[in-house]
Amino acid sequence: MDRRPDAREHGRLKRQRTSVTESKIDPHIPGMSDESDDGGVKLDGYYGKPAVVKQESGDREVKRQRSESPPHESEQSAQKRRKSDFEDHDTTPAKPETRFEADATSKKRQKKEGVLEEKPNPYLAHQYAESEKKSVDPKSNPYLAHMYDDDESYNGYSNGYGKTMDRTRKISEASTLGRLPRHRTTAAMAKKAEDGPANAFTGRPLSSQYFNILKTRRNLPVHSQRDEFLQMYQKSQFLVFVGETGSGKTTQIPQFVLFDDQPHIQRKLVACTQPRRVAAMSVAQRVANEMDVTLGEEVGYSIRFEDVTGPKTILKYMTDGMLLREAMNDNNLQRYSTIILDEAHERTLATDTLMGLLKEVAQRRPDLKIVIMSATLDAQKFQSYFNDAPLLAVPGRTHPVEIYYTPEPERDYVEAALRTVLQIHGSEPEGDILLFLTGEEEIEDACRKINLEADEMVREADAGPLKVYPLYGTLPPNQQQRIFDPAPPPRRPGGAPGRKCIVSTNIAETSLTIDGIVYVVDPGFSKQKVYNPRIRVESLLVSPISKASAQQRAGRAGRTRPGKCFRLYTEAAFKKELIETTYPEVLRSNLSSTVLDLKKLGIDDLVHFDLMDPPAPETLMRALEELNYLACLDDDGNLTALGKLASEFPLDPTLAVMLISSPEFYCSNEILSLTALLSVPQIFVRPASARKRADEMKALFAHPDGDHLTMLNVYHAFKSPDAQANSKQWCHDHFLSLRALQSADNVREQLRRIMEREEIELVSVPFEDKNYYTNIRRALVAGFFMQVAKKEGNSKTYVTVKDNQNVILHPSTVLQQESEWLVYNEFVLTTKNYIRTVTSVKPEWLLDIAPNYYDLSTFGKGEVKNALQRTVEKVRRREATRGPANGKSR
Ligand SMILES: Nc1ncnc2c1ncn2[C@@H]1O[C@H](COP(=O)(O)OP(=O)(O)O)[C@@H](O)[C@H]1O
Ligand SMILES: [Mg+2]
Repeated sequence: MDRRPDAREHGRLKRQRTSVTESKIDPHIPGMSDESDDGGVKLDGYYGKPAVVKQESGDREVKRQRSESPPHESEQSAQKRRKSDFEDHDTTPAKPETRFEADATSKKRQKKEGVLEEKPNPYLAHQYAESEKKSVDPKSNPYLAHMYDDDESYNGYSNGYGKTMDRTRKISEASTLGRLPRHRTTAAMAKKAEDGPANAFTGRPLSSQYFNILKTRRNLPVHSQRDEFLQMYQKSQFLVFVGETGSGKTTQIPQFVLFDDQPHIQRKLVACTQPRRVAAMSVAQRVANEMDVTLGEEVGYSIRFEDVTGPKTILKYMTDGMLLREAMNDNNLQRYSTIILDEAHERTLATDTLMGLLKEVAQRRPDLKIVIMSATLDAQKFQSYFNDAPLLAVPGRTHPVEIYYTPEPERDYVEAALRTVLQIHGSEPEGDILLFLTGEEEIEDACRKINLEADEMVREADAGPLKVYPLYGTLPPNQQQRIFDPAPPPRRPGGAPGRKCIVSTNIAETSLTIDGIVYVVDPGFSKQKVYNPRIRVESLLVSPISKASAQQRAGRAGRTRPGKCFRLYTEAAFKKELIETTYPEVLRSNLSSTVLDLKKLGIDDLVHFDLMDPPAPETLMRALEELNYLACLDDDGNLTALGKLASEFPLDPTLAVMLISSPEFYCSNEILSLTALLSVPQIFVRPASARKRADEMKALFAHPDGDHLTMLNVYHAFKSPDAQANSKQWCHDHFLSLRALQSADNVREQLRRIMEREEIELVSVPFEDKNYYTNIRRALVAGFFMQVAKKEGNSKTYVTVKDNQNVILHPSTVLQQESEWLVYNEFVLTTKNYIRTVTSVKPEWLLDIAPNYYDLSTFGKGEVKNALQRTVEKVRRREATRGPANGKSR
């Protein structure tokens, strides 16, 4: 029986969709691959010293290079972010336990460890949900604040969300901002206001830090063009602004706008979008310092699941995805007077969608001003797209950067990168180092290794101190901020220089500017999204960067003085193999989330929606089909009630539909926890140095039916009073990521409030109920019925239904018994096709819960169809013997 509201309207789907994360090296690119090497000793490209490359078997080498979590910072795909941490698993023999033995042993073990107790089970999520319900006022949730916007008594964080903009922005009465003539100010007026003595925004006295920063700000390249900017901004609705990274676009332009636009007079705000969460947070903090105000007051930020703004906020940094989300409830973006789209050159899916939307909104709102900012000089494309908008280009103030290439392709780019960093530290004059790697795990690992080696250099070679800082999207804000700390001084006067080394994802390419960098090490890779609509596989692959990226990276070395960039690839590879510019994300993504967003935004004619680069028709088709099967769109492509509801959740449609359907399976509390867990980075930690121990710890939580249930066990244990008493220690002992679990907790709470608002019931059956886990597995099918694989005969391989892709289980799985049918969360692409985070399901559930997708007439001939056919017959026989009254399979 199908329980979802619109399930009867399902259409027909030919192929299946999967979401994937993994890293991969394109082996066909010379100079980029690990295959073009004879192994052993290599000549170092820069200093002529021989550098030893560890000899490893080709297969291991590939895996090692491919093992790190994606750096993709966009929040939409956060739930897809997973580490690849499987190297040693390949040799682990499968445990021969039967299902029930395993269950019992695992429970026994958990009991011994104090992880799991029996009745009353303290780990049940719903119990927490119940207690939270009593104590938490939903109005205090900034994410939902717009719900309460009309409530006069409410004075919490709500500025971003007003459906009616009838409340005055409560900017300080002492502010002198409103004394300037709106849209007629000059640089001189702004300068006077900035010079004090009182803070123009708050009326409070200005700090000495303020004046220090003001001095450096006035040296930034954009400053000399403030008047020119103001004139163009005042004259036209659209403005394209290009300038070198570090010229002051992100931090200064929004402030230029504030003085002239004075959004509070209109009871509006200025928004500045960033493709990356980490940039939005970091830049907002910096600008709050520059304006001498508290973050969250006049200046704030808003990213998925976190809103740091208040009633005084007039400048809001936000991810492009968040602005898009707001547009769904506020189609004219009425609360903004100016929208600044920053980092437009990144061409993220959300930026591209926003640009299309803003073109339409601008016609309806002649008072709205839009500034497009970009680092690279593809300005003309932006200009013509925005109805021949005027262009302002700030000449860069950059220093020359010498480029070095390796004479031979590097076999292992991480190894080569570490070697290069240490050589720079040992032999180059003062100046900080920036190394580009691809993802969190790779970066953390590299930092550890550099630290170890640098300590040795200090001890043995009298080298200067080296401070190493990682930088990636999921790094906590306080740790991000450390990249701006000055380099350490020499250990004694006249000693070897101290320096800092930042090991970063692409984020340091244009999003965050770090002064003092003189040496850049560029291995030539970044993690990029790739989508194959034929087999519905979206993956994050480590891929060669573009020429434009390489140039950006090199440019980071010349910010403050002449620098050097070490490219860990050959000059020939740069010239012949690198593409000119990276393809926009819209051409490389599964579009089902975007299509749902657009539908919610009221854009029905997707084909004529003016995107800068229209996606392939096939990709659009796949997205429509998928949403149709999820019952989010009806057969005519219109948004259904379920689709509307799903778009209220900042989640992938699959997850949203699963969550919405979960009360029907009596486990919405558990599915809520699971959805949160699937929306954060990997919760299991598996350090290279302690893999065995980490696996043992994971086994304590293992559920024989699969990984989803195992994650849920972890979460329940994490929420137990024992674990909460010292969660840091507890996570450390159990090889779990405290950060990821806390973040899951936060996400869970945010989603719970949306469920409450939408009146989706939070229900559970008692933990002792024999259907407790079955219910959860059935609910998984309600969302992930398009991500199902079936075992092939007696072999270890599986085949994905409808797409017929051969896959094997990812070695990280806890699945202990042979399961013929599985739902999987991710399709992982490496040398082999893996499916990761799997849970065993029954074929009758597929037929029962997703009858349209599992309409046998839509299946091609083959084992999958035969097996489903047998199931249909089995169910029929069972129903015949039981009689129609008990016909439902539960
Ligand atoms: N958190 C910070 N701490 C110190 N300096 C910063 C911080 N954020 C930005 N800056 C500095 O502000 C200047 C301008 O940066 P930004 O506005 O980001 O430039 P753009 O957007 O043009 O790349 C740079 O010199 C940068 O180093
Ligand atoms: Mg910037």
